[in-house]
This record gives sequence, structure tokens and C-alpha cells, in this order.
Amino acid sequence: MGLYLLLLTVGACWAQHHPNTLPGRTSVVHLFEWRWADVALECERSLAPNGFGGVQISPPNENLIITNPWHPWWERYQPVSYKLCTRSGNETEFRDMVTRCNRVGVHIYVDAVINHMCGAGAGGHATCGSYFNAKTEDFPAVPYSGWDFNDGKCKSGSGNIEDYHDISQVRDCRLVSLLDLALEKDYVRSKVAEYMNYLIDIGVAGFRIDAAKHMWPGDVKAILDRLKDLNTTWFSAGTKPFIYQE
Ligand SMILES: *[C@@H]1O[C@H](CO)[C@@H](O)[C@H](O)[C@H]1NC(C)=O
Ligand SMILES: *[C@@H]1O[C@H](CO)[C@@H](O)[C@H](O)[C@H]1NC(C)=O
Repeated sequence: MGLYLLLLTVGACWAQHHPNTLPGRTSVVHLFEWRWADVALECERSLAPNGFGGVQISPPNENLIITNPWHPWWERYQPVSYKLCTRSGNETEFRDMVTRCNRVGVHIYVDAVINHMCGAGAGGHATCGSYFNAKTEDFPAVPYSGWDFNDGKCKSGSGNIEDYHDISQVRDCRLVSLLDLALEKDYVRSKVAEYMNYLIDIGVAGFRIDAAKHMWPGDVKAILDRLKDLNTTWFSAGTKPFIYQE
């Protein structure tokens, strides 16, 4: 019985740590800020013929539009909803990329921004056209409202992380003013898991978890425990998404 339990544990660990690349394909390339149409072509023309196993892509979900400075890379790390349109492409193009890359044996790993939404104070319309108001913490396209953020839990004076030696601040307060999601709430966990499961159904192989050190491990686990097995069109039954954390 003891040996059986040990093997079971080892087995579970192997499953969790397998990168879900095809045998012999050990490298994953990060195509930061590439468009989905270009990633699809790159899989077909270059990555598959050269034996690459996967691509880490920029966050695919709707984000804040920043024009000053002009569209900095970090606007992609300011979510407004979990709809799949950004300057990398729309949902049709995203699905086409995942299908074409999977078809040539190159898997897609999504940069998942789940710790926070956009910075405090912004408002207007985002990359899919969704309305939002960060002053009132209103994100109707999810929907999230003021109840879904950690303002009551954060104990710093400014509401931002001020002391990186204080683990509660690092996990409950705003990272550079980004509205900090209340991941202890069942509702918030369910919206995040719904987003990740939607991507799993489309055919992605795993996730890079952005800002992982800014979340409580128990909250991250509760979300990961809700994730489905990967799509059996491309992966064997019972395959878990590969997870790696910032
Ligand atoms: C997605 O983008 C492509 C390429 O720009 C465009 O042809 C298509 O109409 C768009 N689809 C939707 C649903 O917006
Ligand atoms: C898995 O992917 C295939 C091919 O894209 C799709 O037809 C199917 O609906 C997906 N499965 C789920 C459960 O979404």
C-alpha cells in the first residue's frame, strides 16, 4: 500500500511536470508580442521543421489601450476582460494559430494574467471594445465589480505594495497600482478558471502564470485544481495543462 501510494504520487508529479511537448522536442520559444497569424506561419515554416516543441505567446485576453507612451509592451499585462482580442489578433485568428501549430506538432503556452486587472484610474474602451471604469472597479465584460478586489484586505497606506519584505502586502496589495483580484473568492476563481478552460478547449498545452509571487499559493492551487484536462484532439486523455510560474 505504501509503495502504491508512493508510485501514485510520483506518477501525479510526472503528469504535472511533463511539458506536453512531443517526444524529442525539448525547446519552447517565446514569441513576445507576435501576431497570431505570424506565429501560425512561424510554426509551419520554421519551428516544426527545426524541431521546436512549443511557443509561449503574449497574453491573448482583452487589455487596456495605452497611447502615452505609445502601446508599451506592458499594456498587455493590464487585463480588461477575458475576451480573446488584442493587437496580436482576434479569437478567429487565435483559434487558427492553435490549430495550425498543433497540426505540425508545435504546442501553444499562454501567458495568463490572473493576479490583477488594469491600473487604477483608467477607463473607456479596451482592445475588444469593452467598456470599463477602473476608478469604480467596474469591468462589465467579465463581469467584475468592486466586491471582487482586495482593497479591504490590503494593509498598506497607499493600497500599493510598499514593502516587499511583507508577504501580505506582496499578495494582497496592488502591484504598481494594478487592481488586485480577490482570488480567495469562489466567484473570482470561477471566472479565472473559466477563461483558462476556454483556452484549454481551443487546444493550448499549458500556461505561464504571470505575477505568481503576488498570489497566495492556496488561491493559485484552487484555480489550477479547476482546470480541465487538455483537448483530446491533440493530447492523450487525462493530460493536465503544463504550468510554470513567474
Ligand atoms: C478577425 O481578424 C481577421 C483579420 O483581420 C478579420 O478578417 C476577421 O473578420 C476578424 N474576425 C472577427 C470575428 O472580428
Ligand atoms: C477540441 O478541439 C477540436 C478541434 O479544434 C474541437 O473540434 C473540439 O470542440 C475541442 N474540444 C472541446 C472539448 O472543446
